[in-house]
Amino acid sequence: MKRIDGHIETLAQYTSTIDKGVTRIVYTEEDKKAKAYLKKLMEELSLAIHEDQIGNIFGVWEGSAPNLPQVWVGSHSDAPTNGGKFDGVVGLIAALESIRILKSQGFQPVCDIVVVIFAAEEPTRFGIGCIGSRALLGMIKESDFDSWVDETNRTLREVLLENNKDPVRVLDESLKPDRIKSFVELHIEQAVVLEREKAVIGLVDVIAAPTEIQLVIHGEQRHAGSTPMDLRKDPVPAASEVVLLVEELTKQNSTSVGTVGKMTIKPGTSNVIAEKVELSIDIRDINKEIKDSIVLKMKQEVSKIMAKRGLFYNWEVKGDDFPSKMDEANLQVIQQITERLELPYKVMPSGAYHDALIMSRKVRTNLIFVPSKEGISHAPEEFTSTEEITSGIKVLTEFLKELSYS
Ligand code: HGY
Ligand code: MN
Ligand code: MN
Repeated sequence: MKRIDGHIETLAQYTSTIDKGVTRIVYTEEDKKAKAYLKKLMEELSLAIHEDQIGNIFGVWEGSAPNLPQVWVGSHSDAPTNGGKFDGVVGLIAALESIRILKSQGFQPVCDIVVVIFAAEEPTRFGIGCIGSRALLGMIKESDFDSWVDETNRTLREVLLENNKDPVRVLDESLKPDRIKSFVELHIEQAVVLEREKAVIGLVDVIAAPTEIQLVIHGEQRHAGSTPMDLRKDPVPAASEVVLLVEELTKQNSTSVGTVGKMTIKPGTSNVIAEKVELSIDIRDINKEIKDSIVLKMKQEVSKIMAKRGLFYNWEVKGDDFPSKMDEANLQVIQQITERLELPYKVMPSGAYHDALIMSRKVRTNLIFVPSKEGISHAPEEFTSTEEITSGIKVLTEFLKELSYS
C-alpha cells in the first residue's frame, strides 16, 4: 500500500501548479518527468521499453509465445489544468503493480503483456483528447498535425519536432490491431455512482463520447463608455446566449451533458467592448443519435443568434466521437473475477471518455472503475483511497493472468 501511495505522491509533484492540484500538460517538462519516473518503474520490472513518435510509451513483459496477440493494459499520464493526483495515474500504477504481483507469484504469461502509457489523453493542449491512442490506431490525418494548435499558436507538428519526434513517422507507426488480443484500462470513476451504491468496482459497459467544438464569435472592438448600446457589435452577450443554449439543450435528456469549460474574451479589458470571444463546447451522450441531434440543433440556434445580432462567427468541430460498447465476453470474465473476490460492483456507463474509447474502435476493450470520493475529479480534491485502488489491482491482476495464460 505504501508503495502505491509513494508512486501517486511522487507523480503528483510533476505539476506546473504545485499550489493548486496537478497540471501536467502533454510534452511539457512535468509530463517528461512523470514519464521518466514511470519508465524507471518499468525498468525495475525488467519490461522492454520503447516509445513511439507521438510519445506513447510501451513496457513489454515478453511471454513464452511472443508471436501470439498481446494483452495490453494502461492509461494516460497527463493531467488537465488544476486536476487531481489520480486521473490516469491510478491505471498506470495498477498496471505496474499487477505485473509486480504476477512476477512475485512466479507467473509466466504465454502471450506478451504490454503496459502502455498513452500520450495526450487530455484535450487541454490541443482541444481534442486521446491524441496518443488515436495516432496508435491510425486515426490521425496528416492535416491534423497542422490544424491542431495550442494556446501559444504552436501546431502539433511543431511541438512534436521540438520534442525530437517525427510527425511523418507517426503515420507509419500505426498499429496492426490483430497484434492485440485485448486492452484493459483501470481508471477512477470520476463520478459518484459507486460511492452512492457502496460498490468498490465499476464494470463499464458503454463509454459516452464527446463532440468537441470551438466557437469563435467576432465583434467590433470599441470604447466601453462612448459607444451607445444600439451601435454595438458585442460578442460577449452573444456568447452568453450560447452558454445558456448548451445548458438548455443538454438538460432535455437524462443521458446528455454539455459544458463550456473555456471562454476567452479578447482583448479582455474592462473598458473595451470585446473584439472576439472564443468558447469550447463539449457535448456528450452514450447515445449517438441524441448527441448528434443536440449538436445539429445547437448549430442551427447559434446561427440564429448571430444573425439576430449581426455577428460573424466560426464553428469548428475539433472532435466528433461516437459512444462505444465495451467487450461483453471479457466484461463477464471481469465480473466473475470480481464476484470471486467478493468485491461489491456495479455494471455502469462511463460519462468520461478514456483511451479505452479510442482503443475499442479496433481492439477488444474493457474499462474497470474504482470510486472517486464524492464523485470529484478534474479538481485538486480528487481522491481515491489506497484500499479502493488495491481492490482494483486485485481484479486487474486476475484478469491479466487469465487473459495472458492461453
Ligand atoms: O474529458 C474526459 O472525459 C477525460 O477525462 N479526458
Ligand atoms: Mn481526465
Ligand atoms: Mn483520465
